[in-house]
Amino acid sequence: MFEWKQCYETGISFIDDHHKRLFELAYETTNNEKNNRDIFNELLDFIKFNFAIEEDYMSEVEYAEFKGHRDHHNIFIKRLCYLKAEEFDNEEDYEKLYWEKAFHFIYSWLHNHMVSEDSKYSNIEDTI
Ligand SMILES: [Fe+2]
Repeated sequence: MFEWKQCYETGISFIDDHHKRLFELAYETTNNEKNNRDIFNELLDFIKFNFAIEEDYMSEVEYAEFKGHRDHHNIFIKRLCYLKAEEFDNEEDYEKLYWEKAFHFIYSWLHNHMVSEDSKYSNIEDTI
């Protein structure tokens, strides 16, 4: 999980660099034995920062699907908040199940989003 793949490349170097860093951070986070909340929150902050960078870029180049793309980002953040608010039977379950669910969700969302959405603006500069 969380290994960088060629299919994630947008061809826009500063965005690719951020995406690579995001995967490194996620990899470090999942391989941290404690999965502690500070590291997890650092990962979430970086994801939000990456979304902001992407959105600024899309706005600057007047990308036609900008609003829809931004909605995808916002829905992801909301779903993570809902996941965080889910009830677990006890603290032990929370510690085990929450992280498992959260990382699985983050990985599958990022993978799908980068392959199907981020790839769409990869050739935007060729069309403007
Ligand atoms: Fe995106």
